[in-house]
Amino acid sequence: MDSLFCPILLSLLFLSTSSAAVRQGAPHFTQQATSPKPQIQQACKATRFPETCEAFLRGSGHVPPNPSPVQIIQSAIWVSSENLKTAQSMVKSILDSSAGNKNRTTAAKNCLEDLHNSEYRISSTAKALPLGRIKDARAWMSSALVHQYSCWSALKYANDTQQVNSTMSFLNSTLIVMTSNGLSMMASYDIFGNETGSWRPPKTERDGFWEASGGDQSKLGFKRGVPTGLKPNATVCKGGDGCYKTVQEAVNAAPDNDSSRKFVIRIQEGVYEETVRVPLEKKNVVFLGDGMGKTVITGSLNVGQPGISTYNSATVGVAGDGFMASGLTMENTAGPDEHQAVAFRSDSDLSVIENCEFISNQDTLYVYSLRQFYKSCRIQGNVDFIFGNSASIFHDCLILVSPRPLDPEKGETNAVTAHGRTDPAQTTGLVFQNCVVNGTEEYMKLYHSNPTVHKNFLGRPWKEYSRTVFIHCNLEVLITPPGWMPWSGDFALATLYYGEFENRGLGANLSSRVEWSSRIPAKHVGTYSLKNFIQGDEWIPHILDDEATAINH
Ligand SMILES: *[C@@H]1O[C@H](CO)[C@@H](O)[C@H](O)[C@H]1NC(C)=O
Ligand SMILES: *[C@@H]1O[C@H](CO)[C@@H](O)[C@H](O)[C@H]1NC(C)=O
Ligand SMILES: *[C@@H]1O[C@H](CO)[C@@H](O)[C@H](O)[C@H]1NC(C)=O
Ligand SMILES: *[C@@H]1O[C@H](CO)[C@@H](O)[C@H](O)[C@H]1NC(C)=O
Ligand SMILES: *[C@@H]1O[C@H](CO)[C@@H](O)[C@H](O)[C@H]1NC(C)=O
Ligand SMILES: *[C@@H]1O[C@H](CO)[C@@H](O)[C@H](O)[C@H]1NC(C)=O
Ligand SMILES: *[C@@H]1O[C@H](CO)[C@@H](O)[C@H](O)[C@H]1NC(C)=O
Ligand SMILES: *[C@@H]1O[C@H](CO)[C@@H](O)[C@H](O)[C@H]1NC(C)=O
Ligand SMILES: *[C@@H]1O[C@H](CO)[C@@H](O)[C@H](O)[C@H]1NC(C)=O
Repeated sequence: MDSLFCPILLSLLFLSTSSAAVRQGAPHFTQQATSPKPQIQQACKATRFPETCEAFLRGSGHVPPNPSPVQIIQSAIWVSSENLKTAQSMVKSILDSSAGNKNRTTAAKNCLEDLHNSEYRISSTAKALPLGRIKDARAWMSSALVHQYSCWSALKYANDTQQVNSTMSFLNSTLIVMTSNGLSMMASYDIFGNETGSWRPPKTERDGFWEASGGDQSKLGFKRGVPTGLKPNATVCKGGDGCYKTVQEAVNAAPDNDSSRKFVIRIQEGVYEETVRVPLEKKNVVFLGDGMGKTVITGSLNVGQPGISTYNSATVGVAGDGFMASGLTMENTAGPDEHQAVAFRSDSDLSVIENCEFISNQDTLYVYSLRQFYKSCRIQGNVDFIFGNSASIFHDCLILVSPRPLDPEKGETNAVTAHGRTDPAQTTGLVFQNCVVNGTEEYMKLYHSNPTVHKNFLGRPWKEYSRTVFIHCNLEVLITPPGWMPWSGDFALATLYYGEFENRGLGANLSSRVEWSSRIPAKHVGTYSLKNFIQGDEWIPHILDDEATAINH
């Protein structure tokens, strides 16, 4: 039993010996005689780290006597948010002691932004759970975990002091572990309800487990999207009176924390060379352009520049929930030799993007976290160009590989996607329905001149539980017969889930696929529908039937 308390004692020791900047009054984990041991032990069976789970919950003094399953989960959320405050003060002291060190300052700042977002998602989870909003709770806790992991990853590039090393250890072995535990319990609660006797650690499709699907609803997307007839609250234009000159100025004019009304920004035809940020407080912001290729937001930030991470290389970066966009191009023109250069990054829950174009090379579209719907979009790039750890559905999209670099005739290896799920309980994955995967005209010329040197894969596992499926898509000849590629050695090959279902085209032949990819069983395809995968039936607006017919005839 004593050994279970080691991590806690270690972190307490750290807290008491580290700099005074570290927040006082961190949770005291004294074991209480009244701790309802059997219920906690039972609930912790749902987690990947049951010993840490039990030790923290029993030590928290926060579990009421004779607790309900929801009360135990609420206590796990509380422990997670207390640990998060500790992490924030640790990272703050890294920042305070890093003046003049650009890499460490950037890492600490990104990390703090991630922790701030994580805090917001955890507190939303705590509110959703007692209301029975279990799908929201799972989505938000998944996102809280994405941000904690990103904070840890940011520090990895600046681990040159003992302080950074200890902070990383705390993030990885305490904060992330307890957040994972809370999330796993929510998954079991959603699947088995109050019957904690059935709770068990999270399973994935690779274990032969699919969540309830309720039939194939993959056609639902045809009738939903960005509503038509929206009236602008602000207009952006090039020259002319009475309009904002930059998109960012119009975003700044949106009210903070208004979760009931849309703020519609009409962006007139023109090229807007700027970096746009829609922060957490700006909710329900809508960008309406004059069409792909007509309204263009362009930038060229990339990780080759000092102080720029993949995250902040984005030309347009959105964190506020309920974001929508229609009729515009977002691009990053850093060029094929500049490594990661994101055109659009989204961390917006319940976001709808329609008729938009994304252009870059490596890392074009960063679907960072949460629930996103992309419809009739055009996405162009080459290396890992759709990536992140969100639950995103791409419907009717055109996905185009573009020529890469310096020596195009020599050939290259590209992965269309790199999904980054780090925990099997995260509700995330990339779902492609009715999409076309092809090359640009220029790329296909190169390809046909020597098909054997140009290799294109549907995806590769950025993180251990990477999940990506292609359903009813047209996969053109450029997709090589093995279909999917490893990240590094056998990393993630036993835990990822890469599924295909009724695709067509010369790249869809399954006979030579890698053995660690899967055919989705017909009875489980519904798991990836708008309704089941991202609860789209609750939040993606209906568009009128006749409009839907006109668009899709
Ligand atoms: C900062 O990071 C860059 C890119 O990772 C690296 O090349 C450079 O050496 C780092 N600078 C310092 C002072 O550590
Ligand atoms: C940080 O760097 C040190 C020294 O190189 C290394 O021993 C340690 O494992 C690193 N810490 C983490 C958490 O990666
Ligand atoms: C990094 O932190 C871990 C855990 O606190 C510790 O075991 C290890 O010795 C540290 N490494 C260095 C190089 O400080
Ligand atoms: C992070 O924590 C996990 C789970 O406790 C552990 O398996 C892994 O080795 C840790 N990673 C690092 C780099 O410390
Ligand atoms: C679990 O029990 C509580 C209290 O009886 C009830 O309100 C809740 O709806 C139950 N949850 C499920 C998923 O059945
Ligand atoms: C908006 O909400 C955030 C997070 O809840 C809060 O920190 C901030 O103060 C709020 N801003 C305004 C202007 O109300
Ligand atoms: C935007 O304009 C509409 C009317 O066109 C109005 O109802 C709505 O409240 C405005 N939104 C905001 C956030 O002001
Ligand atoms: C794929 O691209 C080629 C070359 O541009 C074009 O001929 C072909 O029609 C495209 N396929 C689809 C399904 O759009
Ligand atoms: C699929 O590929 C296999 C092996 O390359 C080939 O024998 C088979 O004819 C192909 N099937 C179709 C439908 O093209």
